[in-house]
Amino acid sequence: MSAYDVIIIGGGPGGYNCAIRAGQLGLKTAIVEKRGKLGGTCLNVGCIPSKALLHASHYYETAEKKFAGMGIKATGLSVDLPKMMDLKLDAVDGLTKGVEFLMKKNKVDYIKGAGRLLGGSRVEISEEGGAKTVHDAKNIVIATGSEPASLPGVEIDEDRIVSSTGALDLTAIPKKLIVIGAGVIGLELGSVWRRLGAEVTVVEYLDRVTPTMDAEISKQFQRTLAKQGMKFQMSSKVVAIERLKAGVHVAIEPAKGGERKALEADIVLVAIGRRPYTTDLGLEAAGVRFDQRGFIETEHFATNIPGVWAIGDCTHGPMLAHKAEEEGIAVAQKCAGLWGHVNYDVIPNVVYTDPEIASVGKTEEELKAAGVDYSVGKFPFLANSRARTNHETEGFAKILEDKAAKRVVGAHLMGVGVGELIGEICVAMEFGASAEDIARTCHAHPTMSEAIREAAKGVDGWLMQA
Ligand code: FAD
Ligand code: NAI
Repeated sequence: MSAYDVIIIGGGPGGYNCAIRAGQLGLKTAIVEKRGKLGGTCLNVGCIPSKALLHASHYYETAEKKFAGMGIKATGLSVDLPKMMDLKLDAVDGLTKGVEFLMKKNKVDYIKGAGRLLGGSRVEISEEGGAKTVHDAKNIVIATGSEPASLPGVEIDEDRIVSSTGALDLTAIPKKLIVIGAGVIGLELGSVWRRLGAEVTVVEYLDRVTPTMDAEISKQFQRTLAKQGMKFQMSSKVVAIERLKAGVHVAIEPAKGGERKALEADIVLVAIGRRPYTTDLGLEAAGVRFDQRGFIETEHFATNIPGVWAIGDCTHGPMLAHKAEEEGIAVAQKCAGLWGHVNYDVIPNVVYTDPEIASVGKTEEELKAAGVDYSVGKFPFLANSRARTNHETEGFAKILEDKAAKRVVGAHLMGVGVGELIGEICVAMEFGASAEDIARTCHAHPTMSEAIREAAKGVDGWLMQA
C-alpha cells in the first residue's frame, strides 16, 4: 500500500490536467487510467480524432468544390480513407504519448488499471497485469468522464448502429448515413461523412439544430448546413431502428405524434447526448452522492465525502474538454491548500463545422428570461474585408452587453475560423470589459477579427463598416 497526496481516477483532460498541476505544486500524485492510454475520450475518441477528420474532409471538399473558382485546377481527386484514418491515428498517438511524457515530467505516477473507491481514503486498483493493489490518498479525484447515451431498446453495435466512436472509425464511406440528434456530434461527424460523399439525413427531436445555442445562430447554421447538402427531419422522434441484412431501417414520427415514416441507410449514428460514466467505481459503497441521471453531485468540486472530489463530464456543467481541464486545475490547487475557481460564465463552446460556430456567455434568450436589459452589436462577415478577399463571407459576429453593468456578457459567432476568434472575447469578459473596450482596441487589418471590433462598435451604435 502506498500513500499519495492525490490519486486521480481517469486520465482524460480533467484528470491529466489535474495531475500536471498537482505535480507542479509538489503533491505526491498518481493517475489511474484503464483504457491503456492517457487522454480520455477527448484525445482517443473525441475532440482530436473528430477534428483530424474534419480538417482532412474540409480540404477534400475545398479542393473538390472551391479550387476551380480560385483558379486552381485539380483533377483526379479521390478519397484515400485508410490514409485519412492513419493521419488521424498519428495525431492521437502523438498527443497521448505527449500526455504520458508530461506525467513523467511532473513526477506523476501513471498506473494502468481500473480504480475503485473502497470508502474513506482508500482506492483499489485492478492493474493491467491482473494484480489488485490498494492505495491511500489524502485526496481522491474522480475524473471518469462520460459515455454515449442510446435510445431505449437500441443496441449500439459500432458496426451499423454507431456512436461517435464507431463513426470516427468507419472503414468505408456510407452511401447513406442517418444521424439521430442535431447536436454538436451529429453536425460535426455528419459534416465529415457528407463532405466525403455520404447522403446525410439528420433526425432531430426539437425544431432547431444545436438547441442550446443562440436562436439566431441555430437558424442560420441549419440553413447553411442544408445548403451544403445535409438533409433535416426536424421535430421528429425515432421510434424504432431495425438492422437489416444490409443496412438499417429507421422509423420516425413527428415529435408531437402522427404518421410514421421509414428512412433507410447504411449506417445510423446515434448522437443524442452523453451520460456520466461511473461504472464499477464503488460510488454507492463509498457513500458518494449522485443524481438521478448519474452525475456526481459537487459543491465547488467537493463531493459529500470529505477528501473526494469530482470533475469533468462525470459531474454537472457543459461536457467540454476545457471545462474539465479548468476544474482539474482548480481541484489540484485546492488539494495544495491554494484557491481554486472556475468561472462558468466564460466557458467557450465551438462547433468545428464550416463555417464554425463559437459562443461564450449568455444567449439573447437567456438574457431576456433573466430580465437583463442588454444591447446588441452585430456585424456580418459579408462586410469584412478579409472574409470578402477569401470569399468566405458566411455568418456574423454578435456581441451582447449588459446595459446597466456596461459589461460584455455574451458573444455568438458564425464564420470561418471563429473558434480561434472567441478567445479574444473570453479574455475581454474575464477582464470585465465593456464592448467599448473591444471597440477601442486596434485590430490588425485585414483580419476576420475586425468583425469582432465592428460588432463591439455596434453595441454603442457607431458601426463604421456596414
Ligand atoms: P474523459 O475524457 O471521458 O476521460 C475519462 C477517462 O477515465 C477515460 O479515459 C476512461 O477510460 C477513464 N476511466 C473511467 N473509469 C475509470 C476507472 N474506474 N478507472 C480508471 N480509469 C477510468 N470537447 C471539447 O471541448 N471540444 C471538442 O472539440 C470536443 N469534441 C468531441 C468530439 C466527440 C466525438 C466526443 C465524443 C466528445 C467531444 N468533446 C469535445 C467532449 C470531450 O471529449 C469531453 O468533454 C472530455 O473528454 C471530458 O473530459 P473528462 O476528463 O471529464 O473525461
Ligand atoms: P448534444 O447534447 O450536443 O446534442 C444532442 C441532440 O440530440 C440535441 O439536439 C437533442 O435535442 C437531440 N436528441 C436527444 N434525444 C433525441 C431523440 N430521441 N431523437 C432525436 N433527437 C434527439 O449531444 P451530442 O451531440 O451527442 O454531444 C455530446 C456532448 O459532447 C455534448 O455535450 C458536447 O458538449 C460534447 N461535444 C463537444 C464538441 C465540441 O465542443 N466541438 C464536439 C462533440 C461533442
